[in-house]
Amino acid sequence: MENWKDTDINVDSLWLIGERDKTGKHSNIYHGNFIPQIPNQLIRRYTKENDVVLDVFMGSGTTLYECEKLNRNFIGFDINKEIIDFVASQMAECNNIKFHINECDVTNKGLFDIAIKNSLQNINFDKVQFLIAHPPYLDIVKFTDLEEDLSKISDINLFLDKFMQAMENGLQYLERNKYFAVVIGDVYKKSEVIPLGFYVMYALKKKFKIKLKGIIVKNIEGNRGKLGMGSIWKYRALKSDYFLFKHEYIFVFKKEF
Ligand SMILES: C[S@@+](CC[C@H](N)C(=O)[O-])C[C@H]1O[C@@H](n2cnc3c(N)ncnc32)[C@H](O)[C@@H]1O
Repeated sequence: MENWKDTDINVDSLWLIGERDKTGKHSNIYHGNFIPQIPNQLIRRYTKENDVVLDVFMGSGTTLYECEKLNRNFIGFDINKEIIDFVASQMAECNNIKFHINECDVTNKGLFDIAIKNSLQNINFDKVQFLIAHPPYLDIVKFTDLEEDLSKISDINLFLDKFMQAMENGLQYLERNKYFAVVIGDVYKKSEVIPLGFYVMYALKKKFKIKLKGIIVKNIEGNRGKLGMGSIWKYRALKSDYFLFKHEYIFVFKKEF
């Protein structure tokens, strides 16, 4: 707080980000990854050095590389073994933080409990101090062929059941009065918008004793080329009756149980 006037921690609910940070280990090779600026902002705001960050859908390790940069310890899971192996190879040289990553179906309570106890023991902690979840957005981007992969699910109710199970599993290990964030977007199916982000936020609010601290809308201005004014997408949107998705949500909560 001593430097509050100079900090670049963004306290606005609208994050317009110029372009993706591609420095260091961020190679942008994984379709469906998020931009490093998201975990960077959240980790700096909600954790201290040497805290443990848990990413329950870690994908290509974006959060882990930010933890390495910011001296935070890390536990991460994903169902995709190939990507876990890739991240492990990227981290072969790391010696400033403790981290443990593992292949795990985070919707399965039995498997999750075994995996996280093992990880916590490995890095010598009892609990985590921040949790981040960036799940698939229904079946919009397919990640693996595994039955338990959330990106196989097209039914919203089934998706919500499984996602909430994953969050219950993870939240058990988050210290009380600490924060967690869910990064998610909406989807368009059968000619209408499914507000997946709002469903997820509401389901979380209903199920857990938590406080909603922020609904951040994030847009990467650098996406203009793909979805911008001159593209075929503009033509398609105008020809039909829909809008082009550009933004995603970051829901920030405080755990009070
Ligand atoms: C949107 S991506 C996360 C990307 C990550 N934030 C990054 O920057 O690379 C969602 C991830 O969830 C994983 N996933 C899907 N179902 C899962 C499950 N049941 N258990 C664990 N991971 C799962 C996918 O393999 C995918 O890597």
